[in-house]
Amino acid sequence: MLLHTIKEVREQISNWKKQGLMIGLVPTMGALHAGHASLIKKAVDTCDKVVVSVFVNPIQFCPGEDYNEYPRTLSEDVELAEGIGADIVFAPSPDEMYGKGQRLSNDTLAYVVPPYFYVDKLCGKSRVGHFDGVCTVVAKLFNITQADYAFFGQKDAQQLIIIKKFVNDLNFPIEIVSCPIVREESGLALSSRNKYLTEDGKKEALVLSKILNNIKSCYDKGITDTDALKETAFSFLTDKHDMEYLEFVDRDNLEDKEIADGNTLVLIACRVEGVRLIDNIIL
Ligand code: PAJ
Repeated sequence: MLLHTIKEVREQISNWKKQGLMIGLVPTMGALHAGHASLIKKAVDTCDKVVVSVFVNPIQFCPGEDYNEYPRTLSEDVELAEGIGADIVFAPSPDEMYGKGQRLSNDTLAYVVPPYFYVDKLCGKSRVGHFDGVCTVVAKLFNITQADYAFFGQKDAQQLIIIKKFVNDLNFPIEIVSCPIVREESGLALSSRNKYLTEDGKKEALVLSKILNNIKSCYDKGITDTDALKETAFSFLTDKHDMEYLEFVDRDNLEDKEIADGNTLVLIACRVEGVRLIDNIIL
């Protein structure tokens, strides 16, 4: 069922909770693709009832980002989510989530703010305030749905680590389940933002997964110095690629790694045709 208000969601969920049912939540911004579908499938397999939220969250977009252009495809999203077995698609308006007329700023609105160490790097460096917006909306969704489990993709690895951190630090009674990255056959990680790319751009976008796979195979051959591994990326880059970062960090706490090991997460962000794309791999 498609619901737009917090009240309706709370009513439905409190009925289910009274019956002792396990609730799963899959937070999304819509424009659902096979990556989202894999999360919904996992939730349906794990939980008795599944809520998929579809909300393009204004407070996680920085000035100049694509909040207005972000693809909105609600009727297709409902069809896809319900086809997999989701019980509720929760699609609130910004007014419903944040209050009518509420100014969306941390001067006037309470936020969940993740630790500086976790946001002062990788995507947080160029997207200042982004993870405050993500954690705030995710915390609200946890409270609204009272979910027992929430499902997130490894695709957004920094987001996943930060969400686990605030859930732990603030004692949210919810289990965070991480799900593997779903890719096209070509290797391109699925993303709602791939819709902005031309066919040519999609080919150029393969540079992210190619760089990561090459690093993994160099690591498997015994190269562990992360500066040396980083060097291997440059042979793949042309003037069609505007690389923002390529970093090696600990997969649990985002600490920088000088020597790679099995706990090392390699993350890349690169612009292709002006579209900011991210990908990552665990060594
Ligand atoms: P969105 O980009 O819609 O992603 C929703 C969820 O789908 C995230 O957990 C993301 O990691 C996962 N996902 C996206 N592409 C994937 C892929 N190719 N394989 C596996 N999982 C994938 O991430 C957000 O929305 C928002 O920041 C949100 C958490 C909903 C808060 O607004």
